[in-house]
Formats: sequence, structure tokens, C-alpha cells
Amino acid sequence: MLKEILNQSTTEEFKRLYHGRGEKTYEFLTIDSINDILFVQFYENINETEILSEIKKYAPDKYKNIIIKRRYNNETFSLKGEIPQNATAVENGIKFKINFFNQNIGYFGDMKNSRAYIEKIAENKKVLNLFAYTCGFSLFARRGGAEFIANVDMSKSALSTGMTNHQINSLDIKNIAFWPYNILKAFAKLKRKAPYDIIIIDPPTHQKGSFIASKDYIKIIKKLPLLSHENTTVLACINSPKFTKEELIKITESNTAFKFQKQIPNPEEYTNSTLKSLIFS
Ligand SMILES: C[S@@+](CC[C@H](N)C(=O)[O-])C[C@H]1O[C@@H](n2cnc3c(N)ncnc32)[C@H](O)[C@@H]1O
Repeated sequence: MLKEILNQSTTEEFKRLYHGRGEKTYEFLTIDSINDILFVQFYENINETEILSEIKKYAPDKYKNIIIKRRYNNETFSLKGEIPQNATAVENGIKFKINFFNQNIGYFGDMKNSRAYIEKIAENKKVLNLFAYTCGFSLFARRGGAEFIANVDMSKSALSTGMTNHQINSLDIKNIAFWPYNILKAFAKLKRKAPYDIIIIDPPTHQKGSFIASKDYIKIIKKLPLLSHENTTVLACINSPKFTKEELIKITESNTAFKFQKQIPNPEEYTNSTLKSLIFS
């Protein structure tokens, strides 16, 4: 099975070769093709020695580096080549700077279709990108012609990578703001540039001390009327088996005038993903 997984056709674009979560086999494993780097993550310490020897045996020569990350203790090591310092993941031609030593490397491939959607509707729009991380949505919004973008995230280092991401793609950062705020405490500041034409909400499910979706998501939804106008589009996302699509629709429709329009499908490689990306307007 690993032989088949590792030998799928790839391009320089990021491709999730295996998404184990929710699968019967290797549910603790993900494998990504990042240009000429094979990136393997173990979420649990199961059959590691055996799997690593199979990977070494079957990984095609096109992979110059094979990098392993143990998510359960955040160890990163190389099975082949050095750990690259200047690697990028490419999504629809846009590059994201990668740091293999961080717990999250700087790029989430499951948002690909949602970012493509934002690019399509961004022309001349004012965009609020909440929980911006490395500013992936901002890159696509700017390529799509957005006039103003505010990227908000409490992690200064994620925003700094976000700024670099614009530069390595030759995207002008004029009229792009990088606001290092705790979103739950900064509504007054977010309001200063309101109303926005597009509002993106892509929070973590459970980040201790920062954001607990089950109690905090509704606080953001309740502020939407202050940040929007009657033609604003909202992209609201959540990646959790417990927080359902129905619940997100219910808290949005019962606290605002926004109505659910459609769900953006996840990329097909992310089988069994619990990510929901919902469009409201
Ligand atoms: C799932 S990531 C967002 C992914 C991003 N939208 C993308 O497209 O790659 C979650 C982000 O939320 C940020 N975060 C968590 N709680 C926050 C809070 N209360 N205020 C601001 N940022 C927060 C984290 O720093 C992290 O960068």
C-alpha cells in the first residue's frame, strides 16, 4: 500500500499523498509531496520503524529530501538529505514559505478550494482575514485584485511569515495590513476599517488560552453586523468532528441577517476531513 501511495504522479504543487485521519489503515499518518520533498507526519508512535524502512525503500528518486515529523513530541528529522531551510509549498502557483521545525509548517493544504474561491470574488474588495496565520487567503485575495486586506492573528511570527509570503510571490503589500491582535479583544480596532466586503473566519478548534470554538465562535459571529454591510460575503470555517455544519449555520443565521449559501468542497485527497467551509451572504 505504501508503495502505491508514494508513487502517485506529482508536480511542483503541494499534494497530500495520504490523509490517514479517519482511515482504517495508518490513521496516525499523513504524507505530503512538497515539490521534491517528501514530508511524513506521525500523529502517534505506531509501527514507526517498519513504516520508515518501507518509505525509504519505496520513495521514488524524485524526492531529494525525506523529512519526518513526530507530531506527538514535535521532533523533526531527516531520512534523506538535509532539512531544507528555504523550502516552499506551492498552491495554484502561489508559494508559501515552510519551516519544518514548527509544529505547523506554515501551510494548510485543506483550504485550497476556499482560497481559490476567495481569489475569484476578491476584485476591488475590502477583505478582513481573521486568524490569518501565514496569510494564505491574503495572497489569493491580492492576486484576485483585492483593494484592501487586513490580516489579523495574535502570532507576530505567523504574520511576519505572511509578509514574506507576499514578497516571495511579488505581490504588492500596499494597502495590506498585518494586525497582531487577539481577535476576541480587538473588535473596536477591527471596526475602524469596517465595513468589509469579504470576511474570512478560519479559527482553531481548541487553542488553550486563545480560542475555544465551542464558546468563542459565537462571539465573533455576533460582531459580524458591526463589521459588514448588506452585500458582504462571509466565509466561516471550522475543522472539528464535534462542531457541525448545522451548528455553524444555526449560530450565524440566528444572530445575524446572514443566510447560508453553500459549502465549499474540501480537496478530494483530504478524505474524511471534518473541515467545513461555509459561505454566507
Ligand atoms: C487554523 S490557523 C488559521 C489558518 C489560516 N487561516 C490559513 O489559511 O492558513 C489558526 C490561527 O489562529 C490564531 N489564533 C488563535 N486564537 C487567536 C485569537 N484569539 N486571536 C488572534 N489569532 C488567534 C493562531 O495564531 C493561528 O495562526
